Amino acid sequence: MCGIACYVGSSRKIKLLVDALEKLEYRGYDSAGVGFLENGQLNQIKSVGNIAKFKEKIDLNKNVSCAISHTRWATHGKVTTENAHPHFSKNSSWAVVHNGIIENYEKIKNKLNIIPKSETDTAVVAQLLEENKVDNIIEFIKVFQKIDGSYAVAAINNSNVNTLFLAKKNSPMFVAKNNGDFLIVSDLVCIQDFSKNYFEMNDNEFALVSNGKIKFYNSCAEVINKNLQQITDEFQHISKEKYQHFMIKEIYEEPQAIEQQVEIYKKQQILNKFDKDFIQNIKEIKFIGCGTAYHAGLVGAQFCEDLLNIPASAEVASEFVYKKCQFISNDKLYVFVSQSGETADTIKALDIVKNKNAKFISLTNVMHSTMAKKSQFILPVCAGVEIAVASTKAYVCQLTALYMFFSHLANVIKNLHIDFYSNLLSLNSKIKKINFSKIDSIAKYISSKKEVVFIGKGIDYVTAAEASLKLKEISYINSSEFMSGELKHGYLALVENDTPIFVFACNQNLNLKTMNAAEEARARGATIFYITNDITLKENKNVIFVDEKNPLLCAVFAIVPMQYLAYKVSVVKNINPDQPRNLAKSVTVE
Ligand code: M6R
Repeated sequence: MCGIACYVGSSRKIKLLVDALEKLEYRGYDSAGVGFLENGQLNQIKSVGNIAKFKEKIDLNKNVSCAISHTRWATHGKVTTENAHPHFSKNSSWAVVHNGIIENYEKIKNKLNIIPKSETDTAVVAQLLEENKVDNIIEFIKVFQKIDGSYAVAAINNSNVNTLFLAKKNSPMFVAKNNGDFLIVSDLVCIQDFSKNYFEMNDNEFALVSNGKIKFYNSCAEVINKNLQQITDEFQHISKEKYQHFMIKEIYEEPQAIEQQVEIYKKQQILNKFDKDFIQNIKEIKFIGCGTAYHAGLVGAQFCEDLLNIPASAEVASEFVYKKCQFISNDKLYVFVSQSGETADTIKALDIVKNKNAKFISLTNVMHSTMAKKSQFILPVCAGVEIAVASTKAYVCQLTALYMFFSHLANVIKNLHIDFYSNLLSLNSKIKKINFSKIDSIAKYISSKKEVVFIGKGIDYVTAAEASLKLKEISYINSSEFMSGELKHGYLALVENDTPIFVFACNQNLNLKTMNAAEEARARGATIFYITNDITLKENKNVIFVDEKNPLLCAVFAIVPMQYLAYKVSVVKNINPDQPRNLAKSVTVE
């Protein structure tokens, strides 16, 4: 996790780095810092909190010719100024910023002459460089032979003016070049205004940037050649526009995103490459992801079983990777789902499947992501940039992509004629008409609750699970989800007077069963809210009507009012929904 932005060149304002850090906040926003060489001395400015707070501490117009900066998501050590990056060696000869985890940092620490004060794993790197009297790139590379784990490291020292040392393993690092000026960042989203040309560093590579030049090295300290690449993705300048938060802007953007997704799939004939041959020998489909992306996989599994009659299931990536037996075989198709395409657990699972030569596709919103680069087959999610930590428009677009994918395959192998483009566009026109105002008062009521429960059956259960995740993530209210048939097998014991239960009933064949469970809870005091496509309930109080009959498509519709509910509760509780405590948008460590 964490984000790195560094500059070496003739001279630029520190604002260049702070702007880049702002774009990297999705990787963490616990604390931030910058380090630079001034009059032969290494200096630093650090603060706890997000980049907006950091800006209050720093002169954005200050000119620097060599500087390293960082936005942190704590892995080792509390969120304190001391633990914020950069980390300095004892005698301040080296300063380091780092993304990733140094796995053997305790071992290194025990061998150091001076134990760093900071609790982080990173601090040992700066001290190691100082104690090994590193003064050139060869010595720098040697030090990394002692370091295990994942890292993107940028380091400066006080004896090499305008010189930056870089190391990369399992954490992204890009070097943008503008004549003799270099901007080093963890994500290409930061470079567009600086340059369109960049070098991508691969694992176990090192670099030295100095005097307007860059040299790359492998782990044997041999010089390697690299070609400049050009950014192909257009990174728009994203702002909140008239909205108070990115999250509500992204919720309101959902109809437009779905439309865009459908248009792109149609125009670019994205699905054409998935023909009979692609699916012919597949006997089982497995979805892998984390958090909301895992929920999209659960929905995908329902789409697949319903439309293709092929057994399907979803697994959480961090569980899959450590299973004793993963049962990977050639007659299985793996579908990896990740908004960012950078989630470490999901990428690890993908690597395992790829190494076994099994068939897989990736579903991602970021076409320049690590996951996209590793994948031969990609189902693009065309949600546009998503900034808020809580995923909203990316989730509905993931479902949209999966619905198109499985409907297309059903047409191909079962000779069906599902007009999935039209189905989605008509669904979209209904989503546009959702009346959110009914939810405002429910949000107010929920905001004082300590616990909220979500239930459903089949695909509705997945919507319940996603609604529950959304609420807990940004309102800090303890919420749980249950399959409606499971209530009577345990949870009912906790139901008290006024326990709020949200009941998803969007499948005419199952609604009665789910509603029975809900009524059993109501009989014990629960306050019930229905999210249902049952027209007879439409006008009732505490009912959010889902204007869609197809239960598969209801999964796309029914989550939207729940995202809005979570957002509203967060705002009522005075929480920043865009940056909930302890979380980050992209989880790039295991
Ligand atoms: O980028 P990814 O889709 O791989 O991220 C996976 C999860 O970290 C993510 O969905 C997380 O659960 C969201 N914050 C939920 O809103």
